Amino acid sequence: LTKCRTLHEHSSGRPPLAFVFDIDGVLIRGPKVIPAAKRALAMLEGNNEWGIKIPYILLTNGGGVGEEYRCHRLTKQLGFEIRPSQYIQAHTILKTFAPKFADEHVLVLGGKLDRVREVAEGYGFKNVYTTLDVHAWNPSVWPFHELTSDERHSAKLVDFSQTPISAALVFHDPRNWSLDIQILCDIILSGGIIGGPYRAAEKPIELIFCNPDLLWRSDFSRPRLGQGAFKEAFQAVYKALTGSEYPYIQYGKPTEATYRFAEKVLKAHMGQLGWKGKLPPVGHTIDNPESDIAGANAAGWPSVLVHTGVYEPSQGPPSQRPTYEADDVEAGVRWAIEREM
Ligand code: G3P
Ligand code: MG
Repeated sequence: LTKCRTLHEHSSGRPPLAFVFDIDGVLIRGPKVIPAAKRALAMLEGNNEWGIKIPYILLTNGGGVGEEYRCHRLTKQLGFEIRPSQYIQAHTILKTFAPKFADEHVLVLGGKLDRVREVAEGYGFKNVYTTLDVHAWNPSVWPFHELTSDERHSAKLVDFSQTPISAALVFHDPRNWSLDIQILCDIILSGGIIGGPYRAAEKPIELIFCNPDLLWRSDFSRPRLGQGAFKEAFQAVYKALTGSEYPYIQYGKPTEATYRFAEKVLKAHMGQLGWKGKLPPVGHTIDNPESDIAGANAAGWPSVLVHTGVYEPSQGPPSQRPTYEADDVEAGVRWAIEREM
């Protein structure tokens, strides 16, 4: 009876719930798709006993490429269309920052070569530089690295002695921590002019990180160090130099800003599906207690912790309490649907 009533209620096409999926460790691990992921998404695309489609978006602390490009790749990997309207990555929120920095010189860190420059320019940032540009300008800025031909090809020719940097935006996980930490310190200590005299900037250099993950789950047998580990390394060096850490802004899961941004994206995506009004209950399917569960609990979203990512049951209870634990994303989705139907 419950199911029939439920079927009747939901035959109006008003989905009983919506899902927000983490990606690494839940849907994929490195280049590999977790088998349960395709079965879970099939359930939400209508292959369930009620025959209704259940909306979902993806919320990842990953990034480094444009949203459209990543959605194209995820669509091929997962076998279902993933649209940019249902996809949020670590630095998507920085789109809202572009107007503020439109006339400033900004340094972007992370990702391969100058892909993140392209992403930042796509967001509307106009004067975007990478640490490879700095090394190409003056290799003695970090004598322990020689630019590869690809890196040299990706670099812009700039005279940084005449280019005051106002902000450093860590979009994605840096590839050359030593070079990036050296240049971050140069910018901050020399008031924005790399190689200039040590002096305070008129306006403090803004430092923004987009992903606090100390660890994340790729396809190696143990979790890998994430952008949060780079932040710890930078702050340790900066503190050794100056006696204190440098103030910064943090985005990404579990920050409130990112979850509020995600709720706006989910509402807009559901609006495109014809849903108007208050969001239905949101099921957040995740793998990292420190970033994902902490964020879900603070946002008031029920959360399903899966055992295919950073968290492993052999470690003992998770540091943050989820609503439910499941072996994988398929079991988690099934539990959440049956709980709401
Ligand atoms: O760099 C990506 C990693 O930090 C975690 O990504 O999808 O598990 O939030 P995700
Ligand atoms: Mg994850």
